[in-house]
Amino acid sequence: MVDLRIKIGELKLKNPVMVASGAFGYAEEFKDFMNLKELGAIVTKTITLKPRQGNPAPRTCETPAGMLNSIGLENPGLEVFIREKLPLLLKIGPPIIVSIASESGPEEFVELARKVDKIKEIAAIELNISCPNIRGKPLLISQDPKATYGVVRGVRRVTSKTLITKLSPNVTFIADIAKATEAAGTDAVSLINTITAMSIDVKTRKPKIASLTGGLSGPAIRPVAVRMVWEVNQKIKIPIIGMGGIMDTPSAVEFIIAGATAISVGTANFINPRVSIEIIKGIKKYLQENNINSINELIGSIRC
Ligand SMILES: Cc1cc2nc3c(=O)[nH]c(=O)nc-3n(C[C@H](O)[C@H](O)[C@H](O)COP(=O)(O)O)c2cc1C
Repeated sequence: MVDLRIKIGELKLKNPVMVASGAFGYAEEFKDFMNLKELGAIVTKTITLKPRQGNPAPRTCETPAGMLNSIGLENPGLEVFIREKLPLLLKIGPPIIVSIASESGPEEFVELARKVDKIKEIAAIELNISCPNIRGKPLLISQDPKATYGVVRGVRRVTSKTLITKLSPNVTFIADIAKATEAAGTDAVSLINTITAMSIDVKTRKPKIASLTGGLSGPAIRPVAVRMVWEVNQKIKIPIIGMGGIMDTPSAVEFIIAGATAISVGTANFINPRVSIEIIKGIKKYLQENNINSINELIGSIRC
């Protein structure tokens, strides 16, 4: 028997496979395709304090080996989420990680975290400081180490829950940002969020999505994501949750070898809703075939 168990902060997962924020809705949508209990953890769509309608349509388009999205954090707001979505999510079984984002400044992150902290059943908080699809926010918090430190520090003060900070790839030195989150007390980092990108319809000469630019995800971004996980792993001691174009077992294993303790599946869910469960089985098989007893032996085992 191989051991797939991992630990992130105080969070104990039975396997390292999670579903990424925004690509799995509130899990209900997937219950007919798979046994959701088998997942390592579920990360919710990012929640803001107040409801958000999101950006105008069209909000997604296909690109070579990927997709662009500019959903703009559409969500029902924290109150409705707690009342209507959370009870169902908690019934599923795996730890629920609630992703939160501020529409204004650092104070809103703190307010959200304080409220989420009060709900005992929520396993962890993921701070989305890296959403590229909010208008009028040219510089993300996650593009500035000082701003990142400030937000994470503020949130750390009001919650004892496991805290994960989600990093943006739209930076020059992602390891510097990761170090700032570690210094501020985050328990783990997750990376990468989408890469800011654009696609144009040459017939109409119009951008394919209404908000002009969006976030690129899917296999097209995987080598960038793997490189960033590898870079960050050399600079911090806390666990990394790796994501970006994971489509199958080999791509998940690639992230773990680069240094990720856990992995998250996003865009692939739209193509094959069962993919995360297949990856859990696939990782188990990979470990057996390679005579590795525990997933922990594989983490960061890259041979350079
Ligand atoms: C349609 C869509 C919506 C997303 N919404 C969120 C979100 O609300 N919060 C967040 O942190 N990331 C969001 N993401 C980013 C993913 O969680 C993930 O970081 C990114 O897509 C890279 O992984 P992938 O290539 O496996 O999709 C979204 C991605 C997609 C495709």
